Amino acid sequence: MPRAYFDHNATTPPDPEVIEAVARALGDDFGNASSVHHFGQRAKALLDEARTSIGQLIGAEPAEIVFTSGGTESDNLALRGAAEALENTGKRHLITSSIEHEAVLNTVKALVKRGWTSTLLPVDATGIVAPASLAAVITRDTAIVSVMHANNEIGTIQPIADLAAIAHEHGALVHTDAVQSVAKIPVDVRALGIDLLSLSAHKFNGPKGAGALWIRRGTRLVATMTGGKHERNRRGGTENVPGIAGMGVAARLAKAKLDVNGGRIGALRDRLEAGILAAVQGTIVNGARAPRVPNTTNISFDGVEAESLLIALDLEGFAVSTGSACSSGTLEPSHVLRAMNLPSHRTQNSIRFSLGAGNTEEQVDALIAKLPAVVGKLRSLVRR
Ligand SMILES: Cc1ncc(COP(=O)(O)O)c(C=O)c1O
Repeated sequence: MPRAYFDHNATTPPDPEVIEAVARALGDDFGNASSVHHFGQRAKALLDEARTSIGQLIGAEPAEIVFTSGGTESDNLALRGAAEALENTGKRHLITSSIEHEAVLNTVKALVKRGWTSTLLPVDATGIVAPASLAAVITRDTAIVSVMHANNEIGTIQPIADLAAIAHEHGALVHTDAVQSVAKIPVDVRALGIDLLSLSAHKFNGPKGAGALWIRRGTRLVATMTGGKHERNRRGGTENVPGIAGMGVAARLAKAKLDVNGGRIGALRDRLEAGILAAVQGTIVNGARAPRVPNTTNISFDGVEAESLLIALDLEGFAVSTGSACSSGTLEPSHVLRAMNLPSHRTQNSIRFSLGAGNTEEQVDALIAKLPAVVGKLRSLVRR
């Protein structure tokens, strides 16, 4: 059987229509979108089209979309740009959650080195930030609240609208990292009631190196990438027209297929989850009781080291991922599972399965069929 890819939260295969759009923009439409002549105007038309498609995907005006190099840059621009814009207000407190992606966590750390203070909100045992925990720590000094929409490791969906309402009552700006929710569930920036939203093309069958930050009209933000007057002075640098054109096509396709894909992928994820729990003893789903994006399941396997299971499954033709990162030979437990206060063994033996449009029932059933023997073998090695 050909290899099966169950790691769509890491990245997704670009849709053939996306690949075509990128190739066209690299070839025929090679112009610089800032040029006044025909070639420039053709490139600019591609940017305009992409801005509209991305706006439609998240319920935003095209003029509110700023193109970036991806989710990491969007998070950096949101937090650093808002922090710089708000510094003269004297407010220097930032609140985020303990389960954010490093793009947010390390940017917050950098701001703390520059004199900001930060508070990390806890999550409950299901991986959800309780609005009451924000209400308990927010003050009039809080300038920014940044909580991710869907978590990349366990897929839990945070109550962003409730958190945003509390933040706004206290005069704080609200950012959400929606890199893992956009194109998986309906995302509407007005319904969420936020000010800034990050997204990344390669997480929804677009190309790598392209992303966007949605900036609500009227939100104060200072450019962090200084240069020309690109992107209405909010992000200097010649636009990555091929990447952005590909992202626009990916956004249009994602919007058109959102319901069908979400339903089909959700059914496959549920089949995989139920199949693994039934076939392999000593397994438990992390974050199962919370609302989750339909493509993600994170499962702890008792008595198995996650990295070994990942490698064993790769040898069998299944690509999965661990939440833990291997650093200098030791297995770091996942900061997300640790924040959920799970017993330490469960934070080190969890595997993330993240599905996408290319997965099939046959692949899911083949994985379920393989797992008992693979896990059994690893457990017998540990017992020796
Ligand atoms: C939640 C989240 N935020 C940000 C990023 C970074 O996005 P990019 O790879 O486009 O820089 C990722 C990627 O894994 C992510 O999952």
